[in-house]
Amino acid sequence: MRMGGKAEAVNAGVSDDSRAKAGTAVRVVELPGERLAEAASVLARAFHNNPNFVDLFPDPRARSRALPALQGTCLRDALGFGRVYAAVRGASGGGELVGVAAWLPPGGFPLSPMRQLRALPGMARILAAAPRSFPRLARFGANVTRLHPALPYWYLEVVGVDPGARGLGVGTRLLEPGLTRADEAGHHCYLETMTERNVAWYRGLGFEVDRAGVFFTPGGPPKWTMIRTPRQPRP
Ligand SMILES: CC(C)(COP(=O)(O)OP(=O)(O)OC[C@H]1O[C@@H](n2cnc3c(N)ncnc32)[C@H](O)[C@@H]1OP(=O)(O)O)[C@@H](O)C(=O)NCCC(=O)NCCS
Repeated sequence: MRMGGKAEAVNAGVSDDSRAKAGTAVRVVELPGERLAEAASVLARAFHNNPNFVDLFPDPRARSRALPALQGTCLRDALGFGRVYAAVRGASGGGELVGVAAWLPPGGFPLSPMRQLRALPGMARILAAAPRSFPRLARFGANVTRLHPALPYWYLEVVGVDPGARGLGVGTRLLEPGLTRADEAGHHCYLETMTERNVAWYRGLGFEVDRAGVFFTPGGPPKWTMIRTPRQPRP
């Protein structure tokens, strides 16, 4: 099992272009476990207005309570069984988290019974935050699982950039280490996404639409599943 304990720089070479755009350096590191709550807050802010979460948690106050619990549960699991990357802006050794990406390795999804057991306290927090959303959330989870591909793949569970740091290349840089890892191992990558804009963004990163217009909740917004074929690693 892997624990996300140390803030090791993953692709420390920030391009001049991205530096100039961001106005200040952004480093991508493996998320240190002690910054999990902060990372969950970044993701909660990133997804607050996302149509999928508006559908799952229509009441904005319940959404504000449920999203950090949901993202925290997801990140805690991924810290143990996958990879979680964080984009950090500012002073080395500390700095502000401005984006997070979590991946599960081949075979890491769906969660084993033991991991589901470990996620129970998190699920209880989500239930307490938004009890009325729970049946819809359960159905969403079951439908997501049903469409996962039958080949070994890295699953991009989540990527989000703080609304104030978007369009600066942070999201792209956050995905680089995961994509490179998959390419080196010759593995596909897979994700679900919820907006056409995101589909275009992921296309730019080498993903292709697998299924379009799928519904994970009755009457909810349409989703896309996307898959990325491994690229030959550069010599
Ligand atoms: C999607 C997301 C992670 C992209 O992160 P980002 O740091 O803004 O992305 P980048 O700066 O690396 O790339 C942005 C570029 O892609 C384009 N783009 C296409 N779709 C985009 C989108 N959905 N969001 C932001 N930029 C998008 C922009 O025009 C920009 O191009 P430019 O640099 O030539 O202007 C971020 O917008 C986000 O957190 N969105 C909310 C959460 C979400 O939907 N996550 C994905 C869930 S599947």
